[in-house]
Amino acid sequence: MKDYEAKDGTMIFAGLPVTEIADEFGTPAYVTDEQRLRENYRNVYSAFSKYMDTRIHYACKANTNLAILSILNQEGTGIDAVSVGEVMTCLKAGIPADRIMYTGVNVSDAELKAVTDMGVMINVDSRSELERLAKINKKLPISFRITPGVGSGHSDKVITGKKGSKFGIPKNDVIKTYLRAKELGFDIKGIHAHIGSGGQSVEPFMDMMDVLTDTVNELKENGIDLEFIDMGGGIGVPYKMNEDEMDLNELAMNVTDIITENTDIETIILEPGRYIVCDSTVLLTRCVDVKDAGVKKYIGVDAGFNTLIRPAMYDSYHYVAIGNKFGKCSTAKYDVAGPICESGDFLAHDRALPDPEEGDVVVIYNAGAYGFSMSSNYNSRPLCSEVLVNDGKAELIRERETVEEQWKHQIVPERLRQ
Ligand code: LLP
Repeated sequence: MKDYEAKDGTMIFAGLPVTEIADEFGTPAYVTDEQRLRENYRNVYSAFSKYMDTRIHYACKANTNLAILSILNQEGTGIDAVSVGEVMTCLKAGIPADRIMYTGVNVSDAELKAVTDMGVMINVDSRSELERLAKINKKLPISFRITPGVGSGHSDKVITGKKGSKFGIPKNDVIKTYLRAKELGFDIKGIHAHIGSGGQSVEPFMDMMDVLTDTVNELKENGIDLEFIDMGGGIGVPYKMNEDEMDLNELAMNVTDIITENTDIETIILEPGRYIVCDSTVLLTRCVDVKDAGVKKYIGVDAGFNTLIRPAMYDSYHYVAIGNKFGKCSTAKYDVAGPICESGDFLAHDRALPDPEEGDVVVIYNAGAYGFSMSSNYNSRPLCSEVLVNDGKAELIRERETVEEQWKHQIVPERLRQ
């Protein structure tokens, strides 16, 4: 994992001291480096497009900020969307409907209608969904998500491809389901699988690709020719300083080899979410309290699991630094804890950090993926702001919510009003 530069003991993010960004926009705030975001997109696209016709469908569940989507739209991205809200947000950012694919699970008829009415193709997850879709819209092309029987991920909670998973068409039903779709008159374009999120090794992707290419050939024998294979997302990124990046070239070479050697498929689709946005963004939070609890020392900050839930939810590791004491020697180990009234509210455990003081700017690394998008109003705390930095210039891309805005959709019946 890469680290940042420092000037006069302060961390510099995309050309700006983090203290300046925190002073101008307040904390907590997610801060994104536009250039890094663009580089990540280009890295993954160029790794694969060397070998095959490649389409990147950014998994926007990782981060749906309209400015971020607009940047990725400029790069030419397609989208993996999972809800009507995500589809509408991507359309609002200017991404055309024919570059969006909808891969839902346990999808209602209302959602199928809304998505297809917007002209977005469906990646069908079950036989039930297929039969219901046939009654709603048969005009748009479709593909199928299959359960490959291969899983990988940073936590059991995000492994999706194993046998018995709630996601996808179970292996034994795949051919039958495609044949049924043909009988129903659908234009069937592809096949999709997603093994899980945040895995760091190439092998599970290759195992999944073996299953996908075998299925493509079996379908061909049954008179069904496909145009693309979609390998889902799941490219892991390093969260720790001593961890290496996954070798994208090795991944691309190996999976595309399996496709070109075994099938006549010409197009590969990938759905990276984490890889594109994760290390483009840090979470800036301020130290508001310092406590020595005897057996433990705490840095109390103004972001809790309402702002970044990954450590509490998955025990995820996010690297932490004190931005205004960058490079200074650590004095002791600290837990970094937030303002939420639960003992599970922490951002990091046992981190060696320089002497913290109230007012310090604490920087949480790798916060761009599943950071803001999983944040909540728990404890009636407003959602935080988001900032974009490009070429040493910072711009607000999401205003901090107000408490009043949280009341907007609540109704107190007349009889209870004082
Ligand atoms: N495609 C499909 C069908 C997916 O379900 C996902 C993620 C992706 C692509 C993108 O995966 P990525 O490239 O980002 O690994 N909240 C968790 C991650 C959940 C991922 C869910 N699906 C976290 O914070 O680690």
